[in-house]
Amino acid sequence: MLDYKKLSPTLLFIFGGSGDLNYRKLTPALYNLFLDNAMPDKFSIVGISRTSYSDEEYQKHLKEGIDKFSRKKDSNGQWKTFAENISYVQMDISDESHYEKIVEIAKEKEKAAGKHLDIVFYMAVAPQLVPVIVKQLGKLDICHDTKCTRIVVEKPFGHDLESAREMNHMLRQYFEEEQIYRIDHYLGKETVQNILALRFANALFEPLWNRQYIDHVQITASETVGVEGRGGYYETSGALRDMIQNHILQLVCMIGMEPPVSFDANEIRNKKVDVLNAIRRISNDEVQNYAARGQYGKGWMQGEQVPGYQEEEGVDPQSNTETFAAVKFYIDNWRWEGVPFYVRTGKRLHEKSTELTIQFKRAPDFAFPKEATETWRPNRLSIGISPEMDICLRFQSKRPGQAMILNPVDMVFNYKDQYKGEEPEAYETLLYDVMDGDATLFMRADQVEAAWELVMPILEVWQARKPLDFPNYSPDSWGPEDAEALIARDGHNWITLPVKQ
Ligand code: BG6
Repeated sequence: MLDYKKLSPTLLFIFGGSGDLNYRKLTPALYNLFLDNAMPDKFSIVGISRTSYSDEEYQKHLKEGIDKFSRKKDSNGQWKTFAENISYVQMDISDESHYEKIVEIAKEKEKAAGKHLDIVFYMAVAPQLVPVIVKQLGKLDICHDTKCTRIVVEKPFGHDLESAREMNHMLRQYFEEEQIYRIDHYLGKETVQNILALRFANALFEPLWNRQYIDHVQITASETVGVEGRGGYYETSGALRDMIQNHILQLVCMIGMEPPVSFDANEIRNKKVDVLNAIRRISNDEVQNYAARGQYGKGWMQGEQVPGYQEEEGVDPQSNTETFAAVKFYIDNWRWEGVPFYVRTGKRLHEKSTELTIQFKRAPDFAFPKEATETWRPNRLSIGISPEMDICLRFQSKRPGQAMILNPVDMVFNYKDQYKGEEPEAYETLLYDVMDGDATLFMRADQVEAAWELVMPILEVWQARKPLDFPNYSPDSWGPEDAEALIARDGHNWITLPVKQ
């Protein structure tokens, strides 16, 4: 059983209650928290949407989601007890009078609990609906309780720097920053959080964690899936916005940040925003030296024929949207000067894998005989985020026998072996933290804007210069040639995944 402290009584309103995010992720996460005894003793979950459901119908619908997507299933009839806390409200979010229902429910629940409740409003809706809801919620007195009322906003957080600023400005008109929880689900992943433990709870790594010993860093977030029926959304996004501006830059921050003086939410976020602010700004003229893009064509994936991106539903047959992006970042500060961070992400790639690799500098080999230097490899620390959750340290070892012949070998720590599959899903961690009022794993306004600032030149250049070679990579490959060239120019190559064979 995981270790959770007891939370205050909480009332959760989920806008988009009949939608996919709630069905696949939020309710399963809340249910798993319940099974782990991590939900508050008194809690209520209220789904809000336009669709008409009775409470029973709604609970039944969510139960299907549990059966399909939950980490733990309903073994001892616990769903029934959990579901007693779920209700449903049909609402037209653009009608001001409908928000009275929220006030009534809050009063009612508070009376039943005999206590002041923490209230969470979760925006599991399309991004264009968020301002509509926020402006209405902002008029309610319950939203002015800065300590107990919180609002959770999902990505995409803006479409570019300007729209992200507008969104922040709009939210701040109605809520204080400490009430706003911007979700980046990568930050809820166990292995991502463990980067802080690895770096700062061990004496071993921190002395080496700098330009003196680290040659370069690689981050790959590759997916085998295509756009999974989300062509309409993806057309307005592309790989750079969808993955790099948020998830991958957050990973860069975790690897790059200075040691925090405490685990206070703002302290951690200050240290992360320092990294973003230190990342070299690239001018539009330099974009081609720092970034590469790609789009998958049609082809074969593990024996199955798959359509090209331009043939996917909701996609323009002449689309210029990138389904692959690779970028080289430099963090121009004392620790990282001259150390490239190569990042890449894409759909329809050969493996589903999110992996961070810290490549150390090559140890000097002059004392060893020639045969030893032939298989000489630099040390490498690999952090598997998914599907493998592991940390692997590669070092040189002597092969048994008379000759001094070396082999790179791996020392592996695997979460599954150690913790027997108890790792909570990212949304469990994040929802628990929202209920607990802990914003450490959430994006602050300045972080979001700093990340947009970094990718803007690339977005602008890619928008202005149409790619001439799209589609330029086949399904089941590792992306376009340009991505290979990007890293090869510096004398490196992308590490073959999976790292541990
Ligand atoms: C989402 C993106 O934020 O992250 C998706 O919108 C992507 O396009 C997903 O598939 C990847 O998340 P994970 O946790 O599977 O790496």
